[in-house]
Amino acid sequence: MNAQTTTFPTACLIGGEWVTKDKTFPVFDPATGNKLADVPDLDATDARRAIDAAHAAFPAWAAQPAKERSKVLKRWLALITAETEALAQLMTAEQGKPLAEARSEVAYGGTFIEWFAEEGKRAYGHTIPTTNTATRYITIKQPVGVCAAITPWNFPIAMITRKVSSALAAGCTIVVKPSEETPLCALALAKLAVDAGVPPGVLNIITTNDAASVGEALTSDSRVRKLTFTGSTDVGKILYRQCAGTIKKLTLELGGNAPMIIFDDADLKEAVEGTMASKFRNAGQTCVCANRILVQSGIYDEFVAALKVAVEKLTVGPGRQPDATVGPLINADGIEKVKSLIADATSKGAKIVTGGTPAPQGPLFFTPTIITGVEPAMAIAKDEIFGPVASIIRFETEADAIRIANDTPYGLASYLFSQNLARAWRVAEALETGLVGMNSGLFSNEVGPFGGVKQSGLGREGAQEGLEEYLETKFLCLGGMNS
Ligand code: SIN
Repeated sequence: MNAQTTTFPTACLIGGEWVTKDKTFPVFDPATGNKLADVPDLDATDARRAIDAAHAAFPAWAAQPAKERSKVLKRWLALITAETEALAQLMTAEQGKPLAEARSEVAYGGTFIEWFAEEGKRAYGHTIPTTNTATRYITIKQPVGVCAAITPWNFPIAMITRKVSSALAAGCTIVVKPSEETPLCALALAKLAVDAGVPPGVLNIITTNDAASVGEALTSDSRVRKLTFTGSTDVGKILYRQCAGTIKKLTLELGGNAPMIIFDDADLKEAVEGTMASKFRNAGQTCVCANRILVQSGIYDEFVAALKVAVEKLTVGPGRQPDATVGPLINADGIEKVKSLIADATSKGAKIVTGGTPAPQGPLFFTPTIITGVEPAMAIAKDEIFGPVASIIRFETEADAIRIANDTPYGLASYLFSQNLARAWRVAEALETGLVGMNSGLFSNEVGPFGGVKQSGLGREGAQEGLEEYLETKFLCLGGMNS
């Protein structure tokens, strides 16, 4: 474990300068309700200053060889890695997740920087066979330009590094607006980026409690050529509309309603472990959490009993408590949503197998819960729960499972457990999602393209595809080749 060596800032980063403001907003620890810090409450004018800085920095950054940009990214990664413990403590304080999960998020966030530092060197165009003897054709890849990123609170480091490292590796500059719930991790990343030698204006981080005005400033400015957003589908639709005026490129990682299908022929132990990993990561606050657990009749009772044993072993507590495995939810709205979805489901006949109530550790803690007898028409099967609640639906046939799984406007993640490879493949092909976990409850990493279909979004992050999102293809046609 590394000792903390850096004092992290509470000021924003614009054009290489640390920016403070008289107007601030507080950041709270969701486990205790204690105030951690005040950070600048920047406005649309400040956002435009950040765009000015990113715009001014773009030509020089884009002109650097990818190998030079890669060196800067690798220095950033080295500093983040050296500060793993300090960053994890900060994340647990402002976001609430258990320290072990916070440490692995720092590592997970770092994998994107490592990947894109290398992948940026491979932004290849190609040669195209000519259609006549007088011309030759090639394509080249060029950075999109100034980008804007609006990032969520549930992964306050990894969702920033995933976006920023791909943008910077491609030669773009960027303005990041982190969630108002978790600005401190973003500002810590900014400090380490400066220390790593990221040139002024290449990375700008602006905090605000007025997401609507700053979002409008970022989306309406024609100098911003791309917006990348992770968050709810409702907000994604607003940003999509706002970007239409200047036809920006878009990556939208939006809400999900992930089905997890447990077939009769699943390996029970593997299915329970996969469900636990997917459902209870970050207290159920991920876009890829199993939101509807579909269990086939033949394995239903056995699965529910085994899941109950596993769920009752979870330890609710503040993230800094060494044995805590389920931390607080992010805010009071999160708790209210969970309570109301459970109340609605039980009023319509669903049954609580374990949990079902707020936990005594504090106002934002909720007891890990299993609820059975859920019907696809209930709100709990339609809305993203974003809490530690395993909601179980019984099904009879493979065709039923596919129909129920796809009966949602969302299409981010899905999961299936079956030892029949032919079935697993067939069902994976039939599921209308961008990501499918087959006998696996976790699939997020830097090499796999992450993203959804339907109303879960546009574009992919991570992987080769993630670099492409920050590049334009230019077609070069060279004539006069017969002379
Ligand atoms: C998310 O919930 O938005 C991201 C989850 C992940 O990267 O696994």
